[in-house]
Amino acid sequence: MIGDLAGFLAATWLRGVPFINCTTTTEGAIDAAVGGKTAVNLKAGKNLVGAFHQPRLVLVDIATFRTLPARDLRAGLAEAVKHALIRDPALFNWLETNAAAILNHDETATVELIRKNVNIKAAVVREDEHETGAEDSVGRAALNFGHTIAHALEAHAAFALRHGECVAIGLLAALQIGVARKFTDPALLERTRALLAAFGLPTHAPADLEPTAFWTYMTRDKKSAEGRVRFLLMPTSGKLEWADDVTAAEAAAAITALAPASN
Ligand SMILES: NC(=O)c1ccc[n+]([C@@H]2O[C@H](COP(=O)([O-])OP(=O)(O)OC[C@H]3O[C@@H](n4cnc5c(N)ncnc54)[C@H](O)[C@@H]3O)[C@@H](O)[C@H]2O)c1
Ligand SMILES: [Zn+2]
Repeated sequence: MIGDLAGFLAATWLRGVPFINCTTTTEGAIDAAVGGKTAVNLKAGKNLVGAFHQPRLVLVDIATFRTLPARDLRAGLAEAVKHALIRDPALFNWLETNAAAILNHDETATVELIRKNVNIKAAVVREDEHETGAEDSVGRAALNFGHTIAHALEAHAAFALRHGECVAIGLLAALQIGVARKFTDPALLERTRALLAAFGLPTHAPADLEPTAFWTYMTRDKKSAEGRVRFLLMPTSGKLEWADDVTAAEAAAAITALAPASN
């Protein structure tokens, strides 16, 4: 959040001044610090005011992760699961093998984690920096996999949940919508659920979530138009397709499927 705010200030102060991003969170190091997207949230929704502004330099010192609250350490790891899903099945295997080492601040595993994720983020951004790819291509928007629901959950929870926690649920909900359509491999959903659980991330929708109440937030997503939500679905690991016809009922069913058992 600090990175996005400072980046947005640097983008707008005197119509733009150079800045260096010294990130101190896993969320920042794995994802947010690289790529030049800066934004602030409004009550009406997530990232509604923002700008593209690349940092001159990104500095990561993994020693800073030791003082991060466990909840924040874990939250950032949801973006590593996202990167593995959209781009790198080998990273998915590596995360499964190294989950415990990462949570235990193992130095080698942590450095490797950041290196692998920065490489993926930078590669995706380099291919489509301003998210201006052709209508039906996915481009940089791949980094938003799971985020349509995640951003709605964040706004619905009045930003009381961590971004990464919402991403964990959002990834599962996006996969769940695909599974319900018989489009997504159910084994991919189960593996993702297990990996997120290994990182101690939520795999259920919040208990107090009214399944349809957050649809309004979904329709405020920047990719939405005229009440329709532009949604990324994943048939198999590494592949993404746009779906323009996901309904409120389908999203609600996916969220309900992720709801914790009531007894
Ligand atoms: N711009 C992008 O491309 C992009 C990508 C992913 C995420 N994001 C955004 O990033 C935000 C989340 O980032 P974040 O997790 O860095 O949030 P954050 O900056 O709010 O930090 C989380 C908490 O950890 C504390 N903290 C930070 N570093 C610490 C440390 N080393 N020791 C102890 N406490 C520390 C902070 O004070 C805060 O309470 C979300 O709003 C998300 O939307 C942006
Ligand atoms: Zn994110």
